[in-house]
Amino acid sequence: MSNLIPVWIDTDTGVDDAFALVSAFKLPGIEIVGMSAVAGNVEIEKTFRNARNVTSLCGREDIKIYKGAEKPLLVPLHPAYAVHGEDGLGGAVIPESKAPVEAKSAYDALYEKAKELNGELTVAAVGPLTNIAITLYKYPDITRYIKELVIMGGSIGVGGNTTITSEFNIYADPHAAQTVFKSGLKITMFGLDVTMKAVLNREELESLKEVDNPVSKFCYESSNAPTSLYKMLGLGDVLCLHDTCPLAYLSDPTLFSGKMAGVYVETQSEISLGRTVSDLYVRRDEYFDHNAMVMLEVDRDRIAKLVIDTFKAY
Ligand code: RIB
Ligand code: CA
Repeated sequence: MSNLIPVWIDTDTGVDDAFALVSAFKLPGIEIVGMSAVAGNVEIEKTFRNARNVTSLCGREDIKIYKGAEKPLLVPLHPAYAVHGEDGLGGAVIPESKAPVEAKSAYDALYEKAKELNGELTVAAVGPLTNIAITLYKYPDITRYIKELVIMGGSIGVGGNTTITSEFNIYADPHAAQTVFKSGLKITMFGLDVTMKAVLNREELESLKEVDNPVSKFCYESSNAPTSLYKMLGLGDVLCLHDTCPLAYLSDPTLFSGKMAGVYVETQSEISLGRTVSDLYVRRDEYFDHNAMVMLEVDRDRIAKLVIDTFKAY
């Protein structure tokens, strides 16, 4: 048995997901043992294709990728074309994967891998939690076989990026997210509180252009869509490494710090649908069971260097 942490990535492959995949395949200490695509940033056909193509571009067609949910459990799908472009990858050109298309569903494949690894599997969910929720409903005993669920999603103290209160991944499927937060799984949450601090600045992005490999050039090209939007919104000429955070944490937990808290999801309210509600700043034990490690701080310089180093490794 290798001493690498076996990781399954569930992704709605948009631009920051692509950056996360590129880094994940090279981060020390982890091994990607399977992936699943979910609808979110763009439609499932595109997220599935993007996951396959980015994985192939990275030379990892050995990793099997499975198609999951084409829509959220109850609410309509709201793609984020403004951030990721209609294709999900900012219009960047990428060759088509030649890997066989897996017929098995994401839910069956994830469950089988979790049982095969007998409790050693860590799942990194970096899109809406629809696939995770459906797998929990179909295979309730999977909670015995998942060691930890690291999530990019939510926001406790910094408001939302999709509505005033809510972050995209949770807002996209609040019912799935509530199912996951109530599942009893060991959850480590990377919300906007920390991911908005994990940025690549313009100088670091430009350095990717100088890295002489097709992976870095592709990612540099794809980054123009989100960075242009961020600049327009006055958030700076930066790329938030939202989805890289959970993977970087698995490689080097010392990059981050946080606190245990209760986190649950608003599924009824019209005005704050998809908000992650927490007792993090209102420490009253009678409110919530503390069901998640909420990450709040990151060493920005170290994670930026770690990411750039992974791009240089191709
Ligand atoms: O809010 C950021 C999250 O929403 C990221 O996972 C991004 O890819 C989008 O899915
Ligand atoms: Ca994502």
